[in-house]
Amino acid sequence: MKFGHFDDANREYVIDTPKTPYPWINYLGSQEYFALISNTGGGYSFFRDAKMRRLLRYRYNNIPTDIGGRYTFINDAGDVWTPTWLPVKADLDHYECRHGMGYSTITGERNGLKVSTTYLVPLGETAELQKITFTNTSNAAKDIKAFPYVEFCLWNAEDDQTNYQRNLSLAEVEVERNGKLLVTGRPVAADGNRDSSRPAYTEVSDPDAGSFTGAAIYHKTEYRERRDHYAVFAVNVLTEGFDTDRDSFVGLYNYLGEAQVPREGHCNDSIASGWYPIGAHEIHLTLAPGESKDIVVVLGYVENPDAEKWADDAHQIINKKRAHELLARFSTPEKFDAALAALKVYWTELLSKYKVKSTDEKLDRMVNIWNQYQCMVTFNMSRSASYFETGIGRGMGFRDSNQDLLGFVHLVPERARERIIDIASTQFPDGSAYHQYQPLTKRGNHNLGSGFNDDPMWLVAGVAGYIKETGDWGILKEPVPFDNEPGSEQPLMEHLKRSFDFVVNHLGPHGLPLIGRADWNDCLNLNCFSTTPGESFQTTENQAGGVAESTFIGAQFVLYGKDYAALCDHLGQHDEANRARAEVDKMRENMLKHGWDGNWFLRAYDYYGDPVGTHNDKEGQIWIEPQGFAVMAGIGVDSTDPTSQAYQSSPAGKALASVDKYLNTPHGMVLQYPAYTTYQVRLGEVSTYPPGYKENGGIFCHNNPWVTIAETVVGNGAKAFDLYKQITPAYREDISEVHRLEPYVYAQMIAGKEAPKHGEAKNSWLTGTAAWNFVTVSQYLLGIRPDYDGLIVDPQIGPDVPDFEVTRVCRGATYHIKVHNSGQPGARATLTVDGKPIEGRLVPYAAPGSTVEVTATL
Ligand code: GLC
Ligand code: GLC
Repeated sequence: MKFGHFDDANREYVIDTPKTPYPWINYLGSQEYFALISNTGGGYSFFRDAKMRRLLRYRYNNIPTDIGGRYTFINDAGDVWTPTWLPVKADLDHYECRHGMGYSTITGERNGLKVSTTYLVPLGETAELQKITFTNTSNAAKDIKAFPYVEFCLWNAEDDQTNYQRNLSLAEVEVERNGKLLVTGRPVAADGNRDSSRPAYTEVSDPDAGSFTGAAIYHKTEYRERRDHYAVFAVNVLTEGFDTDRDSFVGLYNYLGEAQVPREGHCNDSIASGWYPIGAHEIHLTLAPGESKDIVVVLGYVENPDAEKWADDAHQIINKKRAHELLARFSTPEKFDAALAALKVYWTELLSKYKVKSTDEKLDRMVNIWNQYQCMVTFNMSRSASYFETGIGRGMGFRDSNQDLLGFVHLVPERARERIIDIASTQFPDGSAYHQYQPLTKRGNHNLGSGFNDDPMWLVAGVAGYIKETGDWGILKEPVPFDNEPGSEQPLMEHLKRSFDFVVNHLGPHGLPLIGRADWNDCLNLNCFSTTPGESFQTTENQAGGVAESTFIGAQFVLYGKDYAALCDHLGQHDEANRARAEVDKMRENMLKHGWDGNWFLRAYDYYGDPVGTHNDKEGQIWIEPQGFAVMAGIGVDSTDPTSQAYQSSPAGKALASVDKYLNTPHGMVLQYPAYTTYQVRLGEVSTYPPGYKENGGIFCHNNPWVTIAETVVGNGAKAFDLYKQITPAYREDISEVHRLEPYVYAQMIAGKEAPKHGEAKNSWLTGTAAWNFVTVSQYLLGIRPDYDGLIVDPQIGPDVPDFEVTRVCRGATYHIKVHNSGQPGARATLTVDGKPIEGRLVPYAAPGSTVEVTATL
C-alpha cells in the first residue's frame, strides 16, 4: 500500500493523505537554521543546536504524536479548519504534501477555499519563511480570516520541559503592528504607580517606526539578561489583531485544535507576561471567485552584538534593526519566490556531482535525489534532531560524523574539511576521543566521555575519504589541537598516527583490539556488568581488569590501517607506512586465527576472554558486523569469482554464505541470530531489547551496506544489488503500510525476523545508513569510486541493471561513464578513456574543467 508517489522531475515526494502511517517529515535549512516539518505542519526549529537554541516548542510523547508546529487556522464564515489537516482535523476536500529539497508545500482545500503553504529556509539566512496562497475556488466571493500560529520555546529545549517553577515567569514579548509598538508591563500612571485599570501592556513609540509595515511579534525571553538573541514571527501584511499569550489564544482547557480565537473569529491582542508565549496574527482577506492572494510569514532568529542590544535600554526595548532588514528581504511573495528558485538551483548544482541514468527508476531516484539529500541532512544533524531523536539528547558523534561525511564529502567538500578539523580537535593526546561534542561550542561532552575504542580509526576513514575526493593533501599539515587545548596543536597527520597507535597500544590477549566501552555497536558492553535499573550502559563506570576484544575493530583497523599507510607513503614517510602495514598484516592474521569460528567471524571475546558469536552459543551465534567489515577489508578473500571452489572454501565465502543463511530476510539482514531472549549481564545493552529490535536481532540498517559492499568485493554484484534493494526505501514504498516510515529516506532500524512486527521501520532520517548506502551504491554497485590518484570504475551490480551512464564531477573534472554490464558473476570491467583502452580500472584524474569520456565493459 502506498500513501503517495515520487515526482522525480520535481525532486519531490508527494503525499496524498494526511493520515500517513506515521508523521512523514522533511528538513528545512542547510547550514545554521534548521526546521523539521511533518506532512501535517508539525515540527520545530532551532539555530545550530537543537538543544541550546530552540525556537519552537515541541511536545514529546504527545497524544496524538505530532501536534505543535506552524499552523494557519482558517475561519471561513464560521467554519474553522486547518489546511494541514492537523490540528483542527476538519475534513479536507483535497490534501497534498510535497516534500522537496529543503522545502515543503502543504495544500488543503475545503468548501471552495484552497490554502497552499510553502515552507523553506532561504540560503544564508537564519529564518524560515512561509508563503501562504489563498485561492477562492468557489463561485461566490469569500471573506475569510486566517491566523498563522507558532508556539515559542524558551531557548533551552531541555530546561523548557522541566524547569517550570522558573520558566513560567520569564516570557516577554514585544509586538510591532501597523506602525505601533506594544511591550509587556502595565502603563505607568501619572502618579508613578502601575495603572491596573489598563491592559497589561504599554504602547510606546516605535524607535524604528516607518521602516516596517506588517506585524511582528518578538519573542525576547531572557534577552534582558545574558542572551543576545531573540526570535521574530512576522507577516508582511497589515493585521487586525494578534495574540502572544497561549491561554488567551487557545483557552486553558482546550486542545490546540479547539483553539478559541479562531472559533470566535478575533484575537485578544494579548501580551504574554510569563506563562506560554506564542505568536498569532489575525489577517482578514476578501477573495473574489477564482482570486488568489499571497502572504509571507517569517520566523527569524536574530543576534545582536552587546553594544547594539537595545533600541531603548531604559525601557528595555530591543534593537530591531537586523530583524527589520530580514523582514525587508522577504517582504513580498516575489522575494519569497526568488528564495525558492535559489534553493532549487543550489540543489541542482549539488546533485550534479553524481548522476546515474539507468533502466531502474527506483535506483535513479535514490541515487540522484533522495540518498544524497539524506546525506546532507545526516551531515548537518548527526543524530540530534528528528522525530525519534529529541534534539535534547545527543550532540555530534565522533564516530557518526566521520561516517556521515563519507556520503557527503562530494557535495560540499569545504564543509567536510571544516567538520574533520572540528572532530579531530576533540581527540585526546593518546588517540582516543570524546564520543560526542556539542555543535554550538564544538567541545567534547564530558558526561559521555570517551572509551569507545572504534572511534579513533573512524577519523582515518573520514580523512581518507576526504582526500580521495578532493586531493587536498594540505589538510594533513593543518595544525589541530588535542581536546581543544590551545597550544597543543599538531598536524592533522599526527592525529591519524595517534588514532592508529591507539589501536596498536590497546590489544588484548588474542592480538585483537580491546573493545573499551563498546565498538561500533554501542550496545555491546562487555565491561559494564550493569545490574542497576535505568543505569546508562554508555556512561557507567566499566569494570577494570577485563580482556574484552572486538573483531569489528580488528577488521576496521585492517581496512583503514591500509589507508593510513597510503597517506604515510604519499607524505614520503615510507618507514611509518611499512610499520603500519606490518601491524595491519598482523591484525589480519589474528583475525583469521583468533577471530574465526569455522564458518564465520567471531564477534568478540568477552571480559573473561570467552568468545562471543560462535556456533556453540545458543543465542547470538552469528553477528553481522565483522562479516561485512572483514570482507570489505579483504580479510579471507582468496578469490573474487563467487562461482569458484576457491571462493566457496575461503573465509570470505563462508562468512557471506553464513550471513545469507542465518541473518538475511526479505526486509534486510538482522544484526545477530538468534536474538537474546534474556538479559545477559556480560553483554550489556544488546540483550536489553526484546528479540528482533534494535541491536538485538533487529535489521540495523547501518551495517547492511557493509555486507553489500563485501558482496561486490567478491564479485557477486547480483547478490549485492538484492541486498541493497531490501532496505532501500524506494523499493519498499509499495509496502508502506508495513514499513510505516517515509519511503524516501532510510531508517535506522527495521524490525527483525524474531520481532512481532517484522518489517516495521523505526528511527528514520538520522542514521549512518544514509552515508553508507550512498557509498555502497555510488562507489561499489555502480562502481565509480574516487581513489588517491584516479577514479576507480568497477561496477558490480549484476544483470538487472544492464546498461547505465554515470556523470561524476570530481576534483573539477567531469567524467561521463558509459557502462555495458553483462552482470556475470566475477566479471570485471575493461575500460576505455577518451576512446583509448587502458590497463586496469583506474581512470587518472584529469585537469579541472576538462571532460573525460569513459566506457566500461564487463
Ligand atoms: C546508533 C549510533 C551509532 C552506533 C549504532 C550502533 O546509530 O548513533 O554511533 O554505531 O547506533 O549501535
Ligand atoms: C545504540 C542505539 C542508539 C543509542 C545508543 C545508546 O547505539 O542505536 O540509538 O543512542 O545505543 O543507548
